[in-house]
Amino acid sequence: MHTILVTGGCGFIGANFLTMLVPRRPDWLFVNVDKLTYAGNPLSLESIRGAPNYGFERVDICDEEAVRHVFSAHDPDWVIHFAAESHVDRSIHGPVDFIRTNVVGTLTLLEACRGLWNGRFEGRLFHHVSTDEVYGSLGPEGRFTEATAYDPSSPYSASKAGSDHLVRAYHRTYGLPVKITNSSNNYGPYQFPEKLVPLMILNALEGQPMPVYGEGRNVRDWLYVEDHCDAILDVIERGSVGGTYNIGGGCERTNIDVVRAICAAVGRAAGRDPAAIESLVAFVPDRPGHDFRYAIDATKLSTELGWRPRESFETGLEKTVRWYMDNPRWVESVRTGEYRRWIETHYGAREHHD
Ligand code: NAD
Ligand code: DAU
Repeated sequence: MHTILVTGGCGFIGANFLTMLVPRRPDWLFVNVDKLTYAGNPLSLESIRGAPNYGFERVDICDEEAVRHVFSAHDPDWVIHFAAESHVDRSIHGPVDFIRTNVVGTLTLLEACRGLWNGRFEGRLFHHVSTDEVYGSLGPEGRFTEATAYDPSSPYSASKAGSDHLVRAYHRTYGLPVKITNSSNNYGPYQFPEKLVPLMILNALEGQPMPVYGEGRNVRDWLYVEDHCDAILDVIERGSVGGTYNIGGGCERTNIDVVRAICAAVGRAAGRDPAAIESLVAFVPDRPGHDFRYAIDATKLSTELGWRPRESFETGLEKTVRWYMDNPRWVESVRTGEYRRWIETHYGAREHHD
């Protein structure tokens, strides 16, 4: 039996992780700790609400007292840390929340683990979910390995780099048992429609302009979210303590190719003319400091732990388009004030520990 404190479980990747794992591991108790920012949607967890091995605490990970309270109430042996401000464009417009949640929030969790576990680390683990963006930008050649030097470009990636350094420092200084994974771009169900893939799917479906930054030549390495969650589970269960593992889809695409693939997939799924959808593409001014290319070398993960992505970009994208078409209630809820009102009605009075 493990008690696992999952931070940010109402976000995109955390929700996929919990909806996959809660039914599959009935002997593990999952406690989801989430502040419910604009990016945290409890509707994403409808399929596990009421499960006997799942609980929720509305807590800001920067709130030391609330975090300490949740840790002593649940005495977790594992912490899986997803919670973050995650959108690069938002970090360019307002970096402060990114430093607060990603750096100070991570520090607060590390301190809570250090205090609660108090040198008794047997069977304990702090797993930090991080990003390939800490490595900065690649040219046309090469891939990021675990040994690549950090060189973050945006306030978001700088804050994630800071959090990675803190996690490693707690391992080296206090012996805290930690693991870190650095993943490439995810896509799939429950992703907030500010990110490229869901934004383009919804705009294509609704006949809205599809804004491509610059000339659309930047390259990302796409990974279906369930493959990411499987990789995290492999690392948690079998990865080495103190270790870092890169996770990537081995699936590089230019942004314009991704957008064209979305036009084609939406055309097929909705019975519409893909050329008419493509006419919605609008080239807009580039993101400042826009990293040119990300590509992950996941050799360590595949040779040590046997992980490989199961989904191809084509099948993953079909599933994702279908999911956004089949879940208009979820889409509406994140785009309208109804979802914020719902959160306040259901969770407003339960700041932490219900
Ligand atoms: P997301 O923005 O969809 O979700 C973030 C979640 O964290 C939300 O539920 C939000 O309510 C919660 N949260 C934010 N601030 C909080 C706070 N102060 N206290 C408690 N909860 C808070 O993010 P995501 O895309 O699911 O990313 C999850 C993690 O994975 C992040 O750490 C991100 O850096 C990392 N990551 C994401 C990707 C990707 O492509 N999405 C790729 C690699 C790594
Ligand atoms: O690489 C991992 C990272 O991937 C994660 O750490 C981040 O949390 C996640 O948001 C993602 O960051 P990106 O900046 O790569 O993702 P985004 O979806 O914002 O953009 C993907 C690419 O598409 C990027 O090159 C910018 C471009 N883009 C994005 C948007 C939102 C556009 O051209 N138009 C858009 O409207």
